[in-house]
Amino acid sequence: MHTPDTSSPSTPKIVVANWKMHGNLQRNQHLIQQYLQGLQGDMPCEVVVCVPYPYLAQMQHLLAGTALHWGAQNIAKFEQGAYTGEVSAEMLCDFAARYVIIGHSERSTAYCESDENIAEKFMMAKRHGLIPILCVGETLLEREAGVMERVVGKQLETIIRLFGGEAFADTLISYEPIWAIGTGLAASAEQAVAMHSFIRDTVAAADSAAAKRLKILYGGSVNPQNAIQLLHQKEIDGALVGRCSLDAEQFIKICQAAPC
Ligand code: PGA
Repeated sequence: MHTPDTSSPSTPKIVVANWKMHGNLQRNQHLIQQYLQGLQGDMPCEVVVCVPYPYLAQMQHLLAGTALHWGAQNIAKFEQGAYTGEVSAEMLCDFAARYVIIGHSERSTAYCESDENIAEKFMMAKRHGLIPILCVGETLLEREAGVMERVVGKQLETIIRLFGGEAFADTLISYEPIWAIGTGLAASAEQAVAMHSFIRDTVAAADSAAAKRLKILYGGSVNPQNAIQLLHQKEIDGALVGRCSLDAEQFIKICQAAPC
């Protein structure tokens, strides 16, 4: 397919590494060193590394003063208290985390997180000055039934209903079709663009100013090959990368696929 370069060169794309539950101190250090070497000089995009909680201190140590940002993969919806095993937004701030993934389907399915729960976490991140990366997306069954927009719309409407459309200003949404995560089967650029437009229109209907200040990423089997086409769409502001972020060479190629 012809790849139209419709993206705006003035706003750098954002590429987020989601390491999920991978890594150890030694491997992380090696991977970060490789990232930094491969990405030195003119950064083609903004790069964020979302790591398991215990490695936030390591990221702060390795990445402070570099062009890379770091973040976590979840937060508690409460400020503090008797919530054994939970980690608060304030704790992430102690390690200078800037971003936090909210509502990833691997969590929401395994731990039965409701849209309301996810909405509260989203606002908790904002209240503490963290940039939430809200994951939305449909299952394969829902896509086949043609209800993907209804499903994603409901995920967004929960936040709009509870906190208003303005909540989306200066945040990130990652469109992550569940059928594309970890399967090697990414959404096509057309499918992603259609959903990204729907997401922006939905937010714009609630608050048009917020919709302009929202970035929408694509996630689900992004690799160096499909990144070129995906990241050149003006509707796609960046990528959330799982598996390929664990391989420095592939991750760097994905970052370099972003238009300068
Ligand atoms: P994947 O994961 O790149 O391995 O498909 C993406 C994600 O879950 O964020």
